[in-house]
Amino acid sequence: MSDSTRYLVTAALPYANGPLHIGHLAGCYLPADIFVRYLRVNRKDVKFVGGSDEHGVPITIRAMQEGKTPQEVVDHYHEILKNSLESMGISYDIYSRTSKPIHHKTSQDFFLNLYNKGLFEVKETEQYYDEVKNVFLADRYITGTCPICGNPNAYGDQCEKCGSSLSPDQLINPRSTLSDAVPVKRKTKHWYFPLQNYEAFLKEWIVDGHKDDWKNNVYGQCKSWLDNGLQSRAMTRDSNWGIKVPLPDAEDKVLYVWFDAPIGYISFTKELTEDWAKYWCDPNTKLYHFIGKDNIVFHCIIFPAMLKAHGDFVLPTNVPANEFLNIEGDKVSTSRNWAVWVDEYLKDFPGQQDVLRYVLCANAPETKDNDFTWKDFQERNNSELVANLGNFVNRTFVLMHKLCGGKVPPLHGDVATPEDQEMVNAFAETKKKVSENIEHFKFREALAEIMELARKGNKYMQDKEPWILARQVDANGKIEAEAQKKIDMCIHVCLQLCANLAILIYPFMPDTSKKMLKMMKVVQRMLFWENAGKAKLLSVGYSLRAPELLFRKIEDSEIEAQLEKLKSGSKKAEAPKEETSFPPLKSEISIDDFGKLDFRTGTILKAEKVEKADKLLKLEIDLGFEKRTILSGIAQHFKPEDIVGQRVVVVANLAPRKMRGIESNGMILMAENAEGQLYFVSPGEVVGNGFTVR
Ligand code: MF3
Ligand code: ZN
Repeated sequence: MSDSTRYLVTAALPYANGPLHIGHLAGCYLPADIFVRYLRVNRKDVKFVGGSDEHGVPITIRAMQEGKTPQEVVDHYHEILKNSLESMGISYDIYSRTSKPIHHKTSQDFFLNLYNKGLFEVKETEQYYDEVKNVFLADRYITGTCPICGNPNAYGDQCEKCGSSLSPDQLINPRSTLSDAVPVKRKTKHWYFPLQNYEAFLKEWIVDGHKDDWKNNVYGQCKSWLDNGLQSRAMTRDSNWGIKVPLPDAEDKVLYVWFDAPIGYISFTKELTEDWAKYWCDPNTKLYHFIGKDNIVFHCIIFPAMLKAHGDFVLPTNVPANEFLNIEGDKVSTSRNWAVWVDEYLKDFPGQQDVLRYVLCANAPETKDNDFTWKDFQERNNSELVANLGNFVNRTFVLMHKLCGGKVPPLHGDVATPEDQEMVNAFAETKKKVSENIEHFKFREALAEIMELARKGNKYMQDKEPWILARQVDANGKIEAEAQKKIDMCIHVCLQLCANLAILIYPFMPDTSKKMLKMMKVVQRMLFWENAGKAKLLSVGYSLRAPELLFRKIEDSEIEAQLEKLKSGSKKAEAPKEETSFPPLKSEISIDDFGKLDFRTGTILKAEKVEKADKLLKLEIDLGFEKRTILSGIAQHFKPEDIVGQRVVVVANLAPRKMRGIESNGMILMAENAEGQLYFVSPGEVVGNGFTVR
């Protein structure tokens, strides 16, 4: 890291539609903070910016659910987010919010910059519109049946049951979540950013330029986006919540939230310092975006393409995204309340933010999804923080007061052993490994090295046994000179190790580090990283304070209480209790009875409503060997245009039946649940038409 380099570090802007959970912390806030603290103690010129993301559909949905205005929602959650981040020691230089006028202005200027260069494509498309509420419906506002798994509550952008990403057009029976009305298609105009025009630039920049220094998970995702080809993306939305599109013919249109939010990094830097351009427009800046994996495409593809198009700004040096942290073996879900909320943690474990920082870092999802369990939290606290680090510091201070008069004892070369030297050498070796790991975003490995050093300290002391040496006393009960020398030697080395540990753990556990400084009566300046690795941080004869317990044991009962809280608070816990009623079985039939039925596979070619029959659809089915007309009573479940192409199983030898003057030749098989929801029994894509089913 050369010295003229400036650092700008960002952490994803959390949506102000809910409190902070530990997945957020593990995903980006904690790693960003560790990195920033490390840069600061290395005397780097660094700014750490972030804030609340206050626009976008999730916020308007939350407002709707809570019967509040979006403004009330963001005001409420912005405070909670800000407090949680601050209490967890996330040391932003500024934590702002995207509702600030400076952000609106910066985003609009950015948009106009691209607009004036003629970079947007204007397209008119048909989108779902809610005629009851008189609004265009964002994808999330539309629910319907998932065409893949039949989940009746899939969203227009995604089915949360099977994970498929969807477009609203794919939903069967779409409904507006605002009014429950069936939405209609209406024309609307939007400004699209042609990402495909930046493909060559992105390939060169990422594939050729960052294959080796970006994390595999990040590089891999980018590569696959680029390999699949990029498309124009609408940068405007029909909504009344967000930043107004600064064009005369764009009333009731706002900037797409993923257009404005990353620009927040720029606006907040402007808000922070008049020197903002130094950080954003000078090639000597290294820009780092800390994010979770769901944000990769926005930070590595879309925002860089926007920055490139604008032209005034630097591109990120690295985007160290983490994977996800699951809770007790299950995906975090805020809607099911399957999460550990940071504000609640801090209420239940006051003053123990470092324990959470420790556990989340030691178990960080750096290369793959990881699991947080309360049992692991307890174990790591009790066996690593209490029994290793805390124990070492505490023992050292207790023995120093008991055997060395409360002062830093002198060194005695004549009693020095290779073990003493080895212990001291480990300071600098550890520092080197910790630095390297942090610089490569391997925070959990860095932390493990520090804990290993503490373990070595414990072993060193255990081998030296100063408490046994202290039994060698003369007639007056005074420790014999030779033994005292060895005790001094050991305690001296252990105290220097404590000082080293205080420096090394600072980026990870700043509050614990501060407590250690206080015990050693040294000032903040000692924390500069250049001091790590040194063996003479505390001077001989200096009197030190009594030890303060750094960590406390966490009891089983506390863990049980947390598990209980998680399970009883979650909506998932109730799910198994939900009773499904199954209709009773019909009476037995013989195999011969069954053999009379001729089932065939087919595909719906056409579907139309039958006049004056509100339940019937007239279907034309391709059975391979022939085409059939079948009337089916599914009109209230499916729209004709949605089921064309649907694969079906047909009872093909059913006697013809006339309804409304139309002859129906067979029946299609449908599955029905207890609520009367219908699902197609589909043979799947690989099975051709006309195959028998037995
Ligand atoms: N609010 C987004 C999320 O929680 C993150 C926005 S990051 C920014 O996924 F770059 F857009 F600000
Ligand atoms: Zn699905």
